[in-house]
Amino acid sequence: MKINVLKSYDELSSTAADIVEKQLKKQPLSKLVLPTGSTPLGMYKELIKRELDWSHTVTFNLDEYLMNPDHPCSYHSFMRKNLFDRINIYPDHCHFPYRPTLSFEDKMYANKGIDLCILGIGSNGHIAFNEPGSSFKSRTRVVDLSEQTIQDNSRFFGSVDDVPKQAITMGLATIMESKRIVLMVNSVDKLNILNVAMDGEVTESVPASILQRHNNVEVYYCD
Ligand code: PGA
Repeated sequence: MKINVLKSYDELSSTAADIVEKQLKKQPLSKLVLPTGSTPLGMYKELIKRELDWSHTVTFNLDEYLMNPDHPCSYHSFMRKNLFDRINIYPDHCHFPYRPTLSFEDKMYANKGIDLCILGIGSNGHIAFNEPGSSFKSRTRVVDLSEQTIQDNSRFFGSVDDVPKQAITMGLATIMESKRIVLMVNSVDKLNILNVAMDGEVTESVPASILQRHNNVEVYYCD
């Protein structure tokens, strides 16, 4: 798979923001899947600056920890702080995976499916919280986080012990049903796993490798 190499994090952020902007202008009633973490922060900043009309847009976040959604480190809080409170989206158009997961998935697929899914990749090759070994047939469900992910995400919590051990995540099959997928990667530390995922064997031990089977994926990388 082709990896588009960009010159800087700013370029990665504005390229992804351009894709979202075009989608919202072409189809105001779009359904988007959105990521959290460090990678998309620049894209969200850029989208806020552009003052787009989000009033018809519906979003679904990829995942959430099993924790109080009002906790400052929850992904609900992350999204409110970094995007939702600063654009004109309706709060009841913003969804996070919840139980019963079937009803969450029904909401995603009501009328039509996901138009655009923005993804990051974990240092172990996960997408959303689908850790290595996740079934390619997986759907939204509760998962145990891997030691690697707990370690990686401890930087947001201050201590490894404070990172929740479980989360609720869209599954790999759920993500693959998106019409278009954009994968953003912004660290040289992830170049190796990115190459393995994009050019290596398609295997459940590298969850992102499933993207090789999607016919509308773009990959953007900067170091
Ligand atoms: P990051 O995480 O953007 O914080 O590096 C990405 C991920 O784990 O999916």
